[in-house]
Amino acid sequence: MDRNSPIGVFDSGVGGLTVAREIMRQMPEERIIYFGDTARLPYGSKSQDTVLRYSRQIIRFLMTKEVKAIVIACNTASAYVLEAVERELDIPIIGVIRAGARTAVHSTRNGKIGVIGTEGTISSGIYTDVMRQMRPDIEVSVKACPLFVPLVEEGLLHDTVTDEIASRYLSVLKGRFIDTLVLGCTHYPLIRSTLGRIMGDEVTLVNPAYETAVELKELLREKELTCQTRKDGEEEKYQFYVSDLAEKFTAFATSILPNEVKETKKIHVEEY
Ligand code: DGL
Repeated sequence: MDRNSPIGVFDSGVGGLTVAREIMRQMPEERIIYFGDTARLPYGSKSQDTVLRYSRQIIRFLMTKEVKAIVIACNTASAYVLEAVERELDIPIIGVIRAGARTAVHSTRNGKIGVIGTEGTISSGIYTDVMRQMRPDIEVSVKACPLFVPLVEEGLLHDTVTDEIASRYLSVLKGRFIDTLVLGCTHYPLIRSTLGRIMGDEVTLVNPAYETAVELKELLREKELTCQTRKDGEEEKYQFYVSDLAEKFTAFATSILPNEVKETKKIHVEEY
């Protein structure tokens, strides 16, 4: 495996850019091939079988780009498919759940943790299972927040509508006296300030995107896959692919990434 190959990152759409952004910040030398499945979003309300089929197609596409490792930046896909696909691959693949769960378990002082995510992630029970394996006495309260994804996609990051919906969703968790809240969906870090204001200063918000990048860095180092030679000028360091609406993706990506995204290519991922 060539250690200077790119890292593949995928998500159901734009949300995984929060993970790509952390990888760019923490490992500026690495190249990234990002795929957002914008034609088939949301994954959060789909069945496990469907998300597995979609994910396998995306992984096959990323393999054609000779990626050295893959990050499943989507919480729903991480919850549903990581276990199955890691057995099928001979390159390292990680999801976002373990990193988020580990940070939450380390950060809680009173042992009461909240998790918010899509319907798929929450109903899979994976955050609770992983955190209980790490610390059996932990008390986990969960809440699916399906309206957050469309609100973020609509750009209502600082809006009274988002405030109102967030207050309703989070009221049940406030009543459980949690001191740590896992933002278990790619989109939620983008409304972090709203969520933080509602939960209050005493609640630590955990962003699995940050911790996933830390875990990836460690994994690449351990497997001796850290990039050594910058191939500047040969091709774009960060390449973006989607299954639909490439221009909309480019605009959104440019608004949240440190550098302008010049181009996003649309591909027919179902052919892989
Ligand atoms: N990327 C998904 C996640 O993190 C959210 C969007 C979707 O439902 O596809 O769970």
